[in-house]
Amino acid sequence: MKIIINVAMTLDGKIDNVARQGAKISSDSDWERVDRLRAESDAILVGGRTLLDEDPRLTVKSATLRDERVARGFEPDPVKVGIVSKATLTAKSRFLTAGRGKVIIFTTEQTSATQLALLREAGAVVCVLGKKRVDLNAALAFLEEWGIENLMVEGGGGINAAFLTAGLVNEILVYIAPLIFGGANAPTLVDGKGVLDGEKLNLLNLEKLDDGGILAKYKVIR
Ligand SMILES: NC(=O)c1ccc[n+]([C@@H]2O[C@H](COP(=O)([O-])OP(=O)(O)OC[C@H]3O[C@@H](n4cnc5c(N)ncnc54)[C@H](OP(=O)(O)O)[C@@H]3O)[C@@H](O)[C@H]2O)c1
Repeated sequence: MKIIINVAMTLDGKIDNVARQGAKISSDSDWERVDRLRAESDAILVGGRTLLDEDPRLTVKSATLRDERVARGFEPDPVKVGIVSKATLTAKSRFLTAGRGKVIIFTTEQTSATQLALLREAGAVVCVLGKKRVDLNAALAFLEEWGIENLMVEGGGGINAAFLTAGLVNEILVYIAPLIFGGANAPTLVDGKGVLDGEKLNLLNLEKLDDGGILAKYKVIR
């Protein structure tokens, strides 16, 4: 499976400001790029805090791109995947209801039986994979069985760190906005516990964009 992390960050590496409410970082043209990347992906994955705090739709916004997916024999929207320790979503959540993508939730024994039933009734495929944290390798094995070959990870910093330190990421695509948020507690591209000797990367492509941003594509050396 090919795994790509896509993020929008500020020059100081922040993927949100200290308020942690999903601050706008991408430009309109970057959103169009993200939409194309989503349309090319079999599945889009987010971490638990992004899922519960922001309730993202994770759909393909462009009708043309959705039609093109259908013409290629796919569903209009990619599969949505959530990795969440305690899956306290409501049945009305946008993640569960928006678009036509199948929803897969990987969670832990911290999610109650009632909540598991609610999610399944809302149409999600729910797998309990771990006591406190979701076992990522087991989750990926499950996704492979579902035919997922291209997985786009859309943050946040905690889930990016988990994927990267487990050696699961092939490429990182970063939109760097001409913006600085600062704040020691604002989330960054990769949070988690940190890696002392650093994850090594190869720069594959660098573009200066008309909106003042920079788009960088890296291959993760494994
Ligand atoms: N700019 C962008 O491109 C972008 C994209 C997405 C998100 N964001 C921002 O990122 C921030 C959220 O990031 P975050 O780091 O707080 O949270 P996150 O990465 O969205 O979610 C991490 C949480 O997932 C749960 N989890 C369960 N199993 C896990 C595993 N195996 N490995 C890692 N986590 C696991 C944990 O919940 P428990 O702690 O409950 O166990 C963990 O705290 C928000 O501010 C959001 O706006 C920015």
